[in-house]
Amino acid sequence: MSQDFDFRSLRKRCGVTESSHVRENFLICSTLPSRHLALAARTSVQEAVKNILMISCSPYTMTSRRSLLFMVSLGVSLSLIVNCVQAEPIKYTVNTFKNCLPGFVPELNETTFCCPPQKNLNGPIVDFVPRHDPHKPLRIKKALQCLSGEELRTYTWKLQKGYELMRALPDDDPRSFYQQGKIHCAYGTGCFAQDSTNITLDVHYSFFFYPFHRYFLYFHEKILQKLLGDPSFTLHFWNYDNSITTSPPAGSRDGCFKAGHFFPAIYNDPTKATYSANRSIRAYTPNLVTDLGIPVSTRNTTSLPFEEAVARNRAVMHNSLITNATTSRAFLGRNYSVGDSQLLNPGLGDGSFEAAHASVHWWVGGIMGPVTTSASDPIFYAHHSNVDRLWTLWPKLGPNRHDPTSNLDWMDAEFLFWDENKVLRRVKVKDSSTTEAFGFRYQEVNDASWIQFPN
Ligand code: C2O
Repeated sequence: MSQDFDFRSLRKRCGVTESSHVRENFLICSTLPSRHLALAARTSVQEAVKNILMISCSPYTMTSRRSLLFMVSLGVSLSLIVNCVQAEPIKYTVNTFKNCLPGFVPELNETTFCCPPQKNLNGPIVDFVPRHDPHKPLRIKKALQCLSGEELRTYTWKLQKGYELMRALPDDDPRSFYQQGKIHCAYGTGCFAQDSTNITLDVHYSFFFYPFHRYFLYFHEKILQKLLGDPSFTLHFWNYDNSITTSPPAGSRDGCFKAGHFFPAIYNDPTKATYSANRSIRAYTPNLVTDLGIPVSTRNTTSLPFEEAVARNRAVMHNSLITNATTSRAFLGRNYSVGDSQLLNPGLGDGSFEAAHASVHWWVGGIMGPVTTSASDPIFYAHHSNVDRLWTLWPKLGPNRHDPTSNLDWMDAEFLFWDENKVLRRVKVKDSSTTEAFGFRYQEVNDASWIQFPN
């Protein structure tokens, strides 16, 4: 069953609300713009042959025989249609937010309700360009497992207090922990559509994956800073990609790095706001290696023994940052411009590390798994801090590895976020490409320790 077309547009235009109905049958609504129909036809001809369901919501009804011929011919001429569409950057606007609708997760066959409260959409929108004051030192984002002594105690207290305060904000405050989870869901499950169309949007499985999450983390951290009254508060990262083993090669640094393999203890105190009771048993099992190779479909695999799991992670890291990441398309994900439909099948558009990143979601499990709820577990932000760190490492790992800065559909794309003062901020992808602009850098740890993995 193809998933490369827009369920919502079919649902909405055809007046069908039952999403599973749409999944199981190929719906054709003849009032659809030809482009939608063409995309649907291209990806679903085979499915359609098996299972055509005609919905007549137009002044005329095609017979299935005629419609089939019509679809096949559209499929054949698809390249012509696509070539006529001028590429243009995707911009989330206030109208995008105002026209938010329930989304859909095909994997779970689930409709999602994640739109931001409309009352937060009436204020001004202020452009935001990250700029670092050169007189101030860069903040350092550190590996969680390497904090110790006083620094660990202070960080633990602040992190837990920050989430306590964020969880205490009213649910309709865009800075609340509740809305942080919801906005990620809205951006990730097709609740938003491209303006003046029904083409749903998703920041995953495309070259927006890294920039979107960098901004999302930035504003999330800003909110924590404001709640704590501490502008220096810095979210540290979960360093699960470290390839240190129980018997590291002579001369290599081991120290704290090995602990990065395990679920960070700081997020596992049931009495604190950083805890989530809704995780897989794996996350509560001490000294269990996070498995970067869990396929999404086998969420309940029992974990591998330590050395095997570390070796497997090293292979995953090597493949997704080195072998399979030699171009920007390969590492960042597919191009995504105005008119492109939402990819509901991750494999069609994701970057080389995005799949491994998903393994961490599924390994932690519970609400951390699906995009609908993942940002409602505080560990999400430590996980994505590491994802963000890997984006900074990738260009250093080989020739020709750079962001697609000559592609204006990447550079000029825009997102909206609420800042720490509840002001809606408009950001551009092009301003996201260095962490220094945001005033921080990552601690050098056992960086790219998997680089030499022979495969
Ligand atoms: Cu927006 Cu790890 O997902």
